[in-house]
Amino acid sequence: MALEIWTIKKLLEWISEYFETNGVDSPRLSAELLLCHILKLERIQLYTLYDRVVQADQLTALRALVKRGAEHEPIAYLVGRCEFYSLPLKITPDCLIPRPETEHLVERSVDFLRNRPSPQYVLDLCTGSGCIAAAIAKNVKDVRIVATDICDNALKVAAENIHRHKLEDKVTLLCGDLFDAIIEGLDQTRFDLIVSNPPYVSDLEYEKLDHNVKKYEPKLALYAGIDGLDIYKRIMEKVDQFLKPDGALMMEIGYAQGPAIQQMLEQSGIFKEINIEKDFANNDRIAIAKKLL
Ligand SMILES: C[S@@+](CC[C@H](N)C(=O)[O-])C[C@H]1O[C@@H](n2cnc3c(N)ncnc32)[C@H](O)[C@@H]1O
Repeated sequence: MALEIWTIKKLLEWISEYFETNGVDSPRLSAELLLCHILKLERIQLYTLYDRVVQADQLTALRALVKRGAEHEPIAYLVGRCEFYSLPLKITPDCLIPRPETEHLVERSVDFLRNRPSPQYVLDLCTGSGCIAAAIAKNVKDVRIVATDICDNALKVAAENIHRHKLEDKVTLLCGDLFDAIIEGLDQTRFDLIVSNPPYVSDLEYEKLDHNVKKYEPKLALYAGIDGLDIYKRIMEKVDQFLKPDGALMMEIGYAQGPAIQQMLEQSGIFKEINIEKDFANNDRIAIAKKLL
């Protein structure tokens, strides 16, 4: 990118092509997001300001990001934000980049909560950026959410997201190992819904994981023991204690984990309805279990 006259149009075309040549996912969209970030514009404005000349200092900043993008550093980390369930969220390398598949979990949670008398109490285990808690809080009127994570730095990002969307009255963030973050007598201890997108990548899957996910996203957010089931097993040990009768447990699961999770839920003996739902790619993606009365 030589320092000549570069308009938004010319830059968009050049960066898209450069990303395409370097095998970057969604090259045009990635180019748009980087330009928006540097120029502080909305995506639509790129097209209304197509002929605007980009200044030298902005070009220098853009150049550095384009280089990192071409090396497959996730665009969400480069621009420090992403969108989840139509909510703009802050993202740093301390937290997993929320995936579109996880929106399905939010959709199910919102449906479940809206059909019950309020107020509803929700526990979001492994909240990371706070994406699930924020999306539920934004879409369910009278809800109180406790969201926990073991990673303090991820929780700092979650706190910013909760603050940005003015959800402090609805969401409490706690740091700790799964349920251990909750203090009996101080915090809510029985929930209508326990929702979680925990780490669920197995040893073998971690080895084969996309190089860029492995390189840039936190292992703590992904890896869960030899079979990837460590965290589910630990959730199952305590779910009865924290879930109200007739409440629901909803968890995102790995594409090959449906049968193992189904068995785990059945063996607990505390659930009346158990469903494993598939995502748009027809992979197992969500486990939903309703507790006996
Ligand atoms: C797959 S990420 C999910 C983040 C977010 N909920 C989402 O859907 O994008 C899993 C999260 O679990 C957290 N985590 C890992 N082990 C944990 C544990 N033992 N207790 C609580 N949180 C844990 C990680 O720090 C990470 O933020």
